[in-house]
Amino acid sequence: MPKKKLGILLSGRGSNFEAIADNAEKEVLDAEIAIVISNVADARGLEVARRRNLNACFVDPRGKSREEYDREVVALLTKSKVDLICLAGYMRILSPYFIQQFPSRILNIHPALLPAFKGLDAQKQALEYGVKVTGCTVHFVDEGVDSGPIVLQATVPVEEGDTEELLARRILREEHRLYSKAIALVLEGLCEVEGRSVHIHSSSVNAD
Ligand code: GRF
Repeated sequence: MPKKKLGILLSGRGSNFEAIADNAEKEVLDAEIAIVISNVADARGLEVARRRNLNACFVDPRGKSREEYDREVVALLTKSKVDLICLAGYMRILSPYFIQQFPSRILNIHPALLPAFKGLDAQKQALEYGVKVTGCTVHFVDEGVDSGPIVLQATVPVEEGDTEELLARRILREEHRLYSKAIALVLEGLCEVEGRSVHIHSSSVNAD
């Protein structure tokens, strides 16, 4: 069986992308990264992708409408025949056009237990709110912000004296583990989306 192909979209550091790439390389994750796309020319993640000899593309957003931009990105993803798209720190909202091209085939990771603390600075929001437990969420992408059906979540306790950096670091460790697990479930066809719920047809996979 040919390996399933992933398309990664990122805008920055790319540590989630690296974790996915490591797992694919070690064959812990039965998939290959077909293309890495960024809207930021000097994103660290893009640089890492080039060093790994992956197909790494910068798509310049300047002077383009959201949909014009997304049409270019979709064309690249389609040409690379991706089975699943993983947003990994991608700082753009996808157009309805983009989302309609890949129904239930776009995942995102968010550093909080959705629906709490959507949007930017989720770890800071969690600290400011005073929650005792936060975590991370992998979800399908729909037309809202951080609002699609949830595939997996993992919890991270907030510790006394936590700073945003310390908390973010502990959440990130969980993100790196959780994202590949969710990708595997989706690629194996074990996730069934029914309204807001994602039913997982497997007894062997859980978030912890
Ligand atoms: C992660 O915290 C992810 O949850 C959020 O953006 C951050 C990206 O980090 N969506 P990295 O670029 O994967 O290191």
